[in-house]
Amino acid sequence: MLQTNEIKVLLVEDDEDDYIIFKDILKEIKNNSYSLTWISSYDKACERVRKNEHDIYFFDYLLGAKTGLDLLQECVESGVDSPIIILTGLGNQQTDLKAMQLGAVDYLVKDDINVEKLERSIRYSIEQNKMLKRLKSSETKFRGIFENSHDVIFLSDKEGRFVDINESAERLFGYSRSELLNMAIADLYENKKECEKYLSQIQQNGHYSSFEIVLLDKSGNKKYCTLTANIQRTDENREVYYQGIIHDLTMRKKAERDIITAEKLAIASKIARTLAHEVRNPLTNINLSVEQLEEDITDEDHKPYFDIIKRNSKRINDLVTELIENSKPAALNEELISVQSILQNTIELAKDRAELKNIKILTDFNVLNKKVVADEASLTIAFLNILINAIEAVQENTGVIKVSSGSEGNKCYISIEDNGHGIEESHRTKIFEPYFTNKPNGMGLGLAASQSIINIHKGRIDFETELTKGTRFLVELSTF
Ligand SMILES: Nc1ncnc2c1ncn2[C@@H]1O[C@H](COP(=O)(O)OP(=O)(O)OP(=O)(O)O)[C@@H](O)[C@H]1O
Ligand SMILES: [Mg+2]
Repeated sequence: MLQTNEIKVLLVEDDEDDYIIFKDILKEIKNNSYSLTWISSYDKACERVRKNEHDIYFFDYLLGAKTGLDLLQECVESGVDSPIIILTGLGNQQTDLKAMQLGAVDYLVKDDINVEKLERSIRYSIEQNKMLKRLKSSETKFRGIFENSHDVIFLSDKEGRFVDINESAERLFGYSRSELLNMAIADLYENKKECEKYLSQIQQNGHYSSFEIVLLDKSGNKKYCTLTANIQRTDENREVYYQGIIHDLTMRKKAERDIITAEKLAIASKIARTLAHEVRNPLTNINLSVEQLEEDITDEDHKPYFDIIKRNSKRINDLVTELIENSKPAALNEELISVQSILQNTIELAKDRAELKNIKILTDFNVLNKKVVADEASLTIAFLNILINAIEAVQENTGVIKVSSGSEGNKCYISIEDNGHGIEESHRTKIFEPYFTNKPNGMGLGLAASQSIINIHKGRIDFETELTKGTRFLVELSTF
């Protein structure tokens, strides 16, 4: 049943007699009140429909030189969203079909109209219209979730070819939407066998959920993700689609890695301090004993041996002091300092090493007035470790290192890029670990220290590398 509130009806009809008949039939419908507006000309009707004020419209098919279908077209263009019913004198199938195609919800033959038919037509049309509106708003709502989701949401066919995919995919994989719509999910998988497993599992079970998969972006960078997918059948033609969500874990993994490294570093420095402390006690005993012996044995022949013991004890003591100093968590002396001047100081400190290898350090600074709150000495060490690694990675004479910087919003970026040997795949997850080195005289502490310093400054450090081509370290800091 219709609700009892008044339904506003607009009738466009150029024949007054037909209007009167229509009005009388409408009046006879019980349980509802209608307010009928009658318009007899096409032009006035156009003006009126644009206002979109009525709950239902009835258009006569013949309106002078124009037809009800023209008016229908006009309504569609002006965004009228209430139901429209076409009235005509002749039961013409073609007009009927055309009217429906244009968006009319019903079609009534004037000679046939009676109270019951009109009431039913109005009731169905309004109900159907309400349902359509609900459907539209739910479609808008779900489209919104689809488009705004941070996760990648896609629809693919059975072969994994994308049929629809949201904007997050562009951000995550670096392809444009139109490129993605010409691709299949297999193109993103690093391991194609994994992809085959996914396609066969979803086909068998109707759903798929992965722990972790490795996908590649347009530049070949690895993205650690989870994929959950389900089969979706469309009702009309029973076609099968796969609907999936890709969740990016790369940042989480990186954060986890940073925490693990920081913990390892903390444990390593604790061990170093304990060890250093324990070495000092026996060392003091050795020194005391040597002093005692020196007093007792005045023989000149033994003097060089006493000197050797004393020199080496001092050396051990100095090393121990250095170890304790270096493993102490540094107290930061934070100031507002210019990014450019830190970079220039760093390069100055590395200049000798670069000159000895006869390699170039090129600069491209675009951070003239950018300042960061930082401990200048620590930050310089962080950049110096990266720069020294770059110098060590390149060939004599042909090595080129580019130090560049830029800013965006309240962030600045520092990039240190070399054309050296690159980092082997199996080493890539380890280079920030304390004591990881593949250099004969390396300690493996440079990058661990750089990372810890950058993290203390709430910045980020990352790298890209390609074997034999080179490596690029990127540091991001907040500016003030
Ligand atoms: N620019 C680079 N190019 C190639 N490999 C690099 C580069 N930077 C770092 N690495 C790799 O990462 C490892 C760790 O670097 P890190 O600076 O932590 O230690 P290290 O240089 O070996 O020793 P040190 O403690 O003397 O710095 C290096 O041994 C090297 O294998
Ligand atoms: Mg190093």
